[in-house]
Amino acid sequence: MSPFLLTRTLPVDATDAALRADVLEGLTRQPKTLPPKWFYDAHGSDLFEEITRLDAYYPTRAEREILIARAGEIAAASGARTLIELGSGSSEKTRHLLDALPALHTYVPVDVSESALTAAAGALLAERPGLSVHALIADFTRPLELPDSPGPRLVAFLGGTLGNLLPHERADFLRSVRAGLAPGDGLLLGTDLVKDEATLVAAYDDPAGVTAAFNRNVLTVVDRELGADFQLGDFEHVAVWDPDNEWIEMRLRARRALSVKIRELDLVVSFEEGEELRTEISAKFREEGVRDELAAAGLRLERWWTDTRGRFALSLATAG
Ligand code: SAH
Ligand code: TRP
Repeated sequence: MSPFLLTRTLPVDATDAALRADVLEGLTRQPKTLPPKWFYDAHGSDLFEEITRLDAYYPTRAEREILIARAGEIAAASGARTLIELGSGSSEKTRHLLDALPALHTYVPVDVSESALTAAAGALLAERPGLSVHALIADFTRPLELPDSPGPRLVAFLGGTLGNLLPHERADFLRSVRAGLAPGDGLLLGTDLVKDEATLVAAYDDPAGVTAAFNRNVLTVVDRELGADFQLGDFEHVAVWDPDNEWIEMRLRARRALSVKIRELDLVVSFEEGEELRTEISAKFREEGVRDELAAAGLRLERWWTDTRGRFALSLATAG
């Protein structure tokens, strides 16, 4: 068997059609929105990696701490022979899990970012020539065609990415994960936890402006792919804590009244001064909420681990 396979489940032009549909729908409604998966072109993936190294962005370090402390327990509980990781990005933290799973046969990183997948797989194969890596360029919110590989399977969804989905999207997503689990399979889920507002806002609005650059990068993607003429300097990065929904909301606020031409859509979009385009939410969780959302999808929370400062949680769930 080939040690490395890269499979594209959507043809390139289907990605293009999805971007067109999302931009048309998101920029012609009130308030204007853009879905977050379009942040992650090659530059966006690099900027995200830079975010993970910022002092103020604690989730990556907190989750890594838990993975290092608990990898043995996770491995013993799951006995996984196949590890499927959704939104795997650089797979950097995942190494701790791969190292702890002696029986692992196949690693299946799944991401919309081809550049992140090829870089991650290249690095992993250089270090672990025996591992079979089957990377999938795919949207994890759509049905996945997983390769044939031995069970038990562990599905990992790290980085707090679950929190980037809206509540109804999370419910659909968890139900579809549940539907793909056989008895003995598990879900390893990373969720950022509710904490004081200052810590949360600082994590999404760093002084060096890396998060701002990441947020604005979605405009660069629309400019390049759909021939739009967004000027990045016209938009200010905004991160606000919504205490009712318990999520951070990322927005791009127009510094002046302006209009943007999107050539490929034959569309002109006007912004008033101060008008905000919503680009992403990052929901924060509590143990009860995670337990309930899992239960609603037919999943049972078996283990709950946090970092020593109680900032981030890793849960292990089964189809119980
Ligand atoms: N798991 C990594 C990366 C988290 S960032 C970590 O913990 O550091 C979120 C990742 O999910 C990015 O790599 C992005 O490209 C990917 N992603 C976002 N939306 C996606 C979608 N709908 N389908 C597949 N991948 C997606
Ligand atoms: N999953 C990450 C999170 O919610 C994604 C993220 C981090 C992000 N920083 C961001 C998304 C800034 C948009 C803007 O923490």
